[in-house]
Amino acid sequence: MPLPPHTASELDRIRAQTLAGRLEWQDSTVPAARIPVENYLSDSIRDAEVERLFRRLPLIAGHASELAAGQVLAHDDYGVPLLLTRDADGRFRAFLNVCRHRGMRLVAATAKAEPRASVVCPYHGWAYKLDGALRHRLHAEAFDDCSAADTNLVALPAEERHGLLWVVPTPGAAIDIAAWLGGLDAEMPFFGVDQLIHFRTVRAEYPANWKLIVDAFLEAYHIRVLHKETIYPFFADGLTAGDRFGPHLQSLVARRAGQEWAKSADSTPPGDMAGLCALVTPSQVIFPNTITIFHPDYLSLITLYPVAAGRLGWTHRMLIPADRATPDWAPHWEKTFRLIEEGVFQKEDIACAIGIQRGFASGANSHLTAGRAEQGLGWFHADVAAALAPAPAAATGKLSRA
Ligand code: FES
Ligand SMILES: [Fe+2]
Repeated sequence: MPLPPHTASELDRIRAQTLAGRLEWQDSTVPAARIPVENYLSDSIRDAEVERLFRRLPLIAGHASELAAGQVLAHDDYGVPLLLTRDADGRFRAFLNVCRHRGMRLVAATAKAEPRASVVCPYHGWAYKLDGALRHRLHAEAFDDCSAADTNLVALPAEERHGLLWVVPTPGAAIDIAAWLGGLDAEMPFFGVDQLIHFRTVRAEYPANWKLIVDAFLEAYHIRVLHKETIYPFFADGLTAGDRFGPHLQSLVARRAGQEWAKSADSTPPGDMAGLCALVTPSQVIFPNTITIFHPDYLSLITLYPVAAGRLGWTHRMLIPADRATPDWAPHWEKTFRLIEEGVFQKEDIACAIGIQRGFASGANSHLTAGRAEQGLGWFHADVAAALAPAPAAATGKLSRA
């Protein structure tokens, strides 16, 4: 399969920078972005983000392989109790995980999706089909004036695309993932996310603003220092190429092998993900809250939620190739997941986010400064600010240029 157009041009730009011995940002005249510290501290900005980003936009609630036909799964990462179902025909749906009788939570949180012929409320036993329709209730004659609209589960806009389960956590909203992804939609099939299998999810909360985690994945400037002992030995310092797709971002971060490839006389573009990921690590920010990192042989899918201005919900899924989802590979994936989740993310990236959040209170900085080598931060914060506008002035994230 040929590389998709933007990924191909990003790889060309990696090669051009290598051959020129000059990084793109060195010829850029874009001013440094100044990001107000307020954006990470303000309760009203956090509330506006929940309202404008986390209630109105399509969010990724899981990977397709986490939910087989005939299964249900409770999902609580986004501050709204979601119930994900896949009926016997394989159709994915999402509902509020709330009984229409007297509001009981229907399905408890479980580590994995569970097979269910129907969803039965634990309080009085109302039973719902996986398409949300009320199937049965005890003493139905006690309820004589309820229409289906009052008794069926409250459906949420939901779509399965590129192997991902997308939900807008507000009933009645529109959903069209291809349109939402824009130009990124055509890049996604090459990445083969739909071919992967879910291996592990870790969920945690940390005392930092959720955007500090996004910031950490929007620049490669820190890899040389923060990740000196862990992943830097595999990467070429600061050699990246990225694109904006509306509010979404994709970048390729060159590995040392990619730098060698770029210098070689026969630098034929790779024709599959294994070939591409041997040279570069593709990473995306799917607006607003999802980060993909295509490691050489697996995918880290990270989703974030602003539990409070200074507290984030972290969900990290490891997705592996289907042909290596066998028990003999499990020890390899366990070890790999621990290294990346605990050794790199928790001890390095997340620890930095927590340290930054703690330092805000000192008043040392009124703004954070993102230089020309960190342009993705400027883009992301501008897109968040644009999504929050036209909120009242006090609840609008701002970004100014130095
Ligand atoms: S609250 Fe669910 S059946 Fe009564
Ligand atoms: Fe990092």
